[in-house]
Amino acid sequence: MSLPPESQGLTLTVLGCGTSPILPSSTPLPRTMGIAILGGVMSTLASHHMRSHLPSPSPSGTSTPALEPPERLPGKFVACDSRREAEKQVKSALGHYNFPLTTLTNQNVTGARKADVVLLACKPQGFKDILGEEGMREALAGKLLVSILAGVTASQIEGFLYPGEDTSVEGKRCRVVRVMPNTASFVRESMSVIQTCTPPLSDTHLRLVTWIFSSIGRTVSLPASAMDASTALCGSGPAFFALMLEAVADGAVAMGLPRAEAQMMAAQTMRGTTGLVLNGEHPAMLRDKVSTPGGCTIGGLLVLEEGTVRGTIAKAVREATVVANIKDSLKMWLESCAYPVPDLSHRYYNTHISLSNPWDVHPVSPARQVQQEGAFQPLTHNSPTPLSNL
Ligand SMILES: NC(=O)c1ccc[n+]([C@@H]2O[C@H](COP(=O)([O-])OP(=O)(O)OC[C@H]3O[C@@H](n4cnc5c(N)ncnc54)[C@H](OP(=O)(O)O)[C@@H]3O)[C@@H](O)[C@H]2O)c1
Repeated sequence: MSLPPESQGLTLTVLGCGTSPILPSSTPLPRTMGIAILGGVMSTLASHHMRSHLPSPSPSGTSTPALEPPERLPGKFVACDSRREAEKQVKSALGHYNFPLTTLTNQNVTGARKADVVLLACKPQGFKDILGEEGMREALAGKLLVSILAGVTASQIEGFLYPGEDTSVEGKRCRVVRVMPNTASFVRESMSVIQTCTPPLSDTHLRLVTWIFSSIGRTVSLPASAMDASTALCGSGPAFFALMLEAVADGAVAMGLPRAEAQMMAAQTMRGTTGLVLNGEHPAMLRDKVSTPGGCTIGGLLVLEEGTVRGTIAKAVREATVVANIKDSLKMWLESCAYPVPDLSHRYYNTHISLSNPWDVHPVSPARQVQQEGAFQPLTHNSPTPLSNL
């Protein structure tokens, strides 16, 4: 395959491209986010190239509005990792696209120097090691740094790269943007949240970031204040939907369907439902349409309402949002105290949020204890973000 014209384009470098065995080695799915994103980008570029050699499709055949692509697209790729095995893994996952692809081991600074856009995709706790490497700050100067690290804010990254009032780097900083994809990136069905920046990203940068993440699913731009709720909805969401999927399959198995068929039927039904909603059908209208008077659907729906499924699911999203907020706030507070930051995440899973006051954490929760010990400002009953003023 000859190289598409885009290969003359930007260089996209991934720091932390991957060897981690997220999925069993027999699976054809990518194993790391770095490979998933590079695969999405390359696949989109390859299909652009193929389309440019085909007659234009009839406009009536398109249902999704086309994304306005940036003027310059990525065309060269650099995949960096700390382990030699990653080079083989990256090449075997992405080599067939035939784009210029360089793999590097323990050469993050070299990778960043070659880049126009850097994607930071290491484990969250590893960002200081990578960004603290000698020469990294200079290698990143003037570039776009896209971080997908869960729980690491853009200001934490900027604060680490440019601590204090270091004016010597004015004009030489990189532009940091945080994007939160989700686990469905591995099947190019991510819901990725691009955090809006202050000052805003240039139109070119925003279109480029949007284009990159559109290659693995859908994108939305939201401010930093929406990140905890977004984490709960899109990060935890697949776990919530998986539980509902299992539950409906269990019901069908209980009524005699074979397990494998029940699971596939449940998954396809969930997918069909999301397809209808994403094409403009309102969920309430959808429910009404399939609920014939005296029929089985309305019977099932009433059981769900009696079981307060709607309220329970909504509360689960609220709980996840509050836990994400507490974790972030406590981590930031501990970091600002310059104490070593222990992994305290396991301590929050016992928090309980009452329906009448969702922001009131259970009196005996660790968060309340820390608050009583003086770490937090008191929770105010009407505050939507009780711990964000740390
Ligand atoms: N997976 C998801 O669903 C998801 C969703 C949203 C966001 N994220 C975020 O995306 C990031 C990547 O996720 P992942 O699931 O792909 O994680 P991962 O499997 O841990 O991949 C990170 C890669 O970075 C490598 N690495 C570690 N230290 C490095 C260094 N000093 N230099 C270069 N490479 C280094 C790791 O190598 P080793 O294996 O040798 O450590 C690993 O191959 C994480 O920060 C995660 O929070 C993930």
